[in-house]
Amino acid sequence: MDAIRFEHVTFAYDNGFVAVEDVSLIISAGEKVAIIGQNGAGKTTTVKMMNGLLRPKSGKITVFGEESAKKTTATLSKKVGYVFQNPGDQIFNQTVYAEIAYSLKYLKIDKAEIERRVMMAAQMCHLADELLTNPYDLPFSIRKFVTIASVVAMDVDVVILDEPTAGQDLLGLLYQKEIIEKLHQMGKTVITISHDMEFVIENFDRIIVMADKKVVGDANKREIFWDFDLLDKAALKQPVVAQLANRLDMKRNIINIVDFVSEYEK
Ligand SMILES: Nc1ncnc2c1ncn2[C@@H]1O[C@H](COP(=O)(O)OP(=O)(O)OP(=O)(O)O)[C@@H](O)[C@H]1O
Ligand SMILES: [Mg+2]
Repeated sequence: MDAIRFEHVTFAYDNGFVAVEDVSLIISAGEKVAIIGQNGAGKTTTVKMMNGLLRPKSGKITVFGEESAKKTTATLSKKVGYVFQNPGDQIFNQTVYAEIAYSLKYLKIDKAEIERRVMMAAQMCHLADELLTNPYDLPFSIRKFVTIASVVAMDVDVVILDEPTAGQDLLGLLYQKEIIEKLHQMGKTVITISHDMEFVIENFDRIIVMADKKVVGDANKREIFWDFDLLDKAALKQPVVAQLANRLDMKRNIINIVDFVSEYEK
């Protein structure tokens, strides 16, 4: 089943600036996908159209087979959860608990179930000890987990993480890896935008590359990072290990140390 389908989608902001142009893509239910590309490529604009936060100027978007133009953002948000790139755009409650519970209260879910979901999401995002803290008293890196927990608590089918790795230390990156893995195991579709290529390579196989408003690549990571025309177009670099393998004329498609060592030992 297709979770998200874009057919020739174009988007323009109110000032007329076209940020996404003729994008077509299909993401299947339960898939784990990374979206990469330089600043301003149109990544955030693209994913915001997946849950109706932004609406396309032309083209068609379907979410689990249903045309999104016919659905309200509130309805779409029950299926597709978007974790904002900047936590400040998402957080407005006085405590971590209230923030995670907010959308659940809005949906009039009963109190015991709200509590259960908040606790589950807080555990998963390592926030169980911060439930009474004001989110703005937490460092940016942990605040990001508050926004992730809010979407996890919604129990949506599609989770979109916009730059979850920005400003994270190694422990933060490990927690993110665990969250993505857990969501994937739960059968969720996980879409993650990131500038951290190491993180992307470690956690995803399918990569969608955007450059200058368009999708310019959509393939397995081992193809993406050895497609020099594509890397050039999207102003991306090969991972260092792949650069080394290339210099040594080793097999193509090496993208991490495990690949490198297994080829080296042959
Ligand atoms: N509200 C807005 N009004 C006008 N233009 C905008 C608006 N928001 C974004 N843009 C422009 O649209 C383009 C695409 O922005 P978008 O945020 O989708 O890029 P991105 O790929 O997510 O970049 P980044 O990696 O920096 O987050 C950029 O040129 C940006 O300046
Ligand atoms: Mg962005």
